[in-house]
Amino acid sequence: MAAATARMTAPAVRARKGSQPPLVMVTAYDAPSARTVDAAGADMILVGDSLAMVVLGYDDTLQVTTADMAHHVGAVARTGPDALVVADLPWLSYHVSREETVHNAAALIRAGAGAVKLEGGGKRIDAVQAILDAEIPVMGHIGLTPQSIHALGGFKVQGKQLDAAQALTDDAVALADAGCFAIVLECVPDAVARMITETVPIPTIGIGAGRHCDGQVLVWHDILGFEAPGHRRPKFVRAYAEFERDAAAAIERFCADVRAGTFPSSAETYHMTDRMAEALGLYGATGVAEPELTQ
Ligand code: KIV
Repeated sequence: MAAATARMTAPAVRARKGSQPPLVMVTAYDAPSARTVDAAGADMILVGDSLAMVVLGYDDTLQVTTADMAHHVGAVARTGPDALVVADLPWLSYHVSREETVHNAAALIRAGAGAVKLEGGGKRIDAVQAILDAEIPVMGHIGLTPQSIHALGGFKVQGKQLDAAQALTDDAVALADAGCFAIVLECVPDAVARMITETVPIPTIGIGAGRHCDGQVLVWHDILGFEAPGHRRPKFVRAYAEFERDAAAAIERFCADVRAGTFPSSAETYHMTDRMAEALGLYGATGVAEPELTQ
């Protein structure tokens, strides 16, 4: 297992522009997922608003609040990861006013994040500047921005036409000029991701954006094959395990053991001394230990 050696920071991520190996970011939402991502040596843990779908069972990311995000950021941060904890600002937490934007970003920092991420390009520069003025590092996110799902008309690859590709590049430049330390590029053709990566002086982190980015991000549940039956796995996901299937099989074995009376065994049970059991007259105690059940 590769181990990260020192605590990652936003300036250290920024300094990795154009260098090898590529940056790695993986989402996490609680202590166990954060521990596994950090132990694997990822550079950044993203507490994404994908929380809404992969953990909380909603259909889109529009349902989570800053309080929801802070609750999960806290769980991740309390594991003390070396990876930089980046927290998603949820929908409507940075759209209303500079003041609200800064307070919401601060709530995620106080919960333990080292940086925040927000969606959108040129339109969001005011929000980016307000957060940066409060000394909070900001990661941008353009391309398919799930918080704009209704405006975009669905989860679709972005930047396929020339003018759309140019607009995405302009957005990336605006975010970099405003002071973002990195930008997520989601679901854009690889040639567009390459153009943006070669244009901006900050790292690009791709998801469904091909291999020419400065780094890659995937969702923890997607990497581990933890998905509801019938879910259509997006083309850009590579699953390295089949947790949903394996977890169901393990729980099925537990159910079977309980129903067969083979769980718990004597070794999985707390016992009194024979003398105490006899004194209490429990189980018609005879001082003879229960026979060991095998699994
Ligand atoms: O919320 C999330 O998980 C994300 C990644 C898909 C980049 O924003």
